[in-house]
Amino acid sequence: MGFENKNILLGVTGGIAAYKSVEFLRLLKKAGANVNVLMTDSAQKFVGKTTFEILSEKPVLTDLFFDTESSVKHIDLATAADAVIIAPATANTIAKLAHGIADDALSTTLLAVTCPVLVCPSMNTDMYQNIRVQRNLDILEKDGWNILDPDSGVLACKTVGAGRLPEPWFIFDRVEAMLGKKDLKGKNMLVSAGPTIEPLDPVRFISNHSSGKMGYAIARAAEKRGAQVTLVSGPVSLDTPVGVERIDVETCEQMAEKILANLDRADIIIKVAAVADYRPLDPKSRKIKKKDNNKDLSILMTQNPDILKAIGKKKTKNQFLVGFAAETDDLEKNARLKMKKKNLDMIAANIVGSSESGFKADTNKVKLFFKDGSLFDIPLMGKDKIADILIDKVLEKMG
Ligand code: PMT
Repeated sequence: MGFENKNILLGVTGGIAAYKSVEFLRLLKKAGANVNVLMTDSAQKFVGKTTFEILSEKPVLTDLFFDTESSVKHIDLATAADAVIIAPATANTIAKLAHGIADDALSTTLLAVTCPVLVCPSMNTDMYQNIRVQRNLDILEKDGWNILDPDSGVLACKTVGAGRLPEPWFIFDRVEAMLGKKDLKGKNMLVSAGPTIEPLDPVRFISNHSSGKMGYAIARAAEKRGAQVTLVSGPVSLDTPVGVERIDVETCEQMAEKILANLDRADIIIKVAAVADYRPLDPKSRKIKKKDNNKDLSILMTQNPDILKAIGKKKTKNQFLVGFAAETDDLEKNARLKMKKKNLDMIAANIVGSSESGFKADTNKVKLFFKDGSLFDIPLMGKDKIADILIDKVLEKMG
């Protein structure tokens, strides 16, 4: 989701975590958002408003009567806002917002807001769990505002528990999800990503260069668009996308088991994983030793199950099945053949072996082939953007 030309209001209240809002503001600005900051008096005891003014390139609204060039500045801001994020949100501000109290610039502005709001509570665990605070958060949630659960960990008061403000990137991710379209709401999506690794002995394996980036981008985009996403992942070094259920596997056989176990409830299945077609027939239980008189070593391989083909055989008419084809040549011919052989609704074909597409790269170039014979070309772009376009096309074809 792009933040260009989006008007974001960032409300900062008085908690030790106010310093994290500075970094969050930087993320919003970097994404192209137009950010206006509102601070309560107590917030300014933790971080000076100058910091927010410099980074937002705008005056910070702290007072309804003295600070602004217009006496209805707060109404102008509320009307223009595309989203409001209150981070950190103290128990006091949460109580005021829940009961419609308007006694400072932030709470008064929030009464006039009609856009989506994300409240990020941050406080001592006992305060957070206090029945009054929970009741107030419930009121806000029932009124349609979004509440971000705090993280658990060591708090400023030296206790351990729930109450930490989540990291700025996480809040940013949730804002993206809040503002994006929700056209996958109610849908279950099953995605596979990353490589499989096939053991030779306890220390060695056969694998490929898949980093998981393409599959994770699809899982992330689908979750943001409202899908319940299950991600069956080979070994990768990527963080699990927020809100996605991740199941870790190593071998093709493990991947097949987990995918087939989750198949029935899936509406859309996207198999991005680079699965090993063959595995060593007889993996050794002890390390294979080097023998001085043996210059060459042969390893007998046996075919792995074709997971996608098995899904193609089992899928119902309501399930939409997407495969990927990693090719070095004859892209269209090979991709169309795979689509037919594996009974797919769509195949996304990409050229591998280049630094800008396929394995490991942050970008990709993909041709989408459909069962009805049509084709859609996605030029070189970031894997996150490709993921969104691919989902658009799936939804279009599903009708
Ligand atoms: O992970 P990244 O670094 O971001 O790289 C992305 C990618 C290049 C791995 C991805 O874009 C991609 O092309 N994935 C498919 C890789 C692959 O295994 O292609 P294939 O042409 O060999 O297989 C065709 C399809 O059959 C794939 O959907 C694959 O998941 C599936 N398959 C293959 C073999 C097998 N035994 N079981 C399968 O299900």
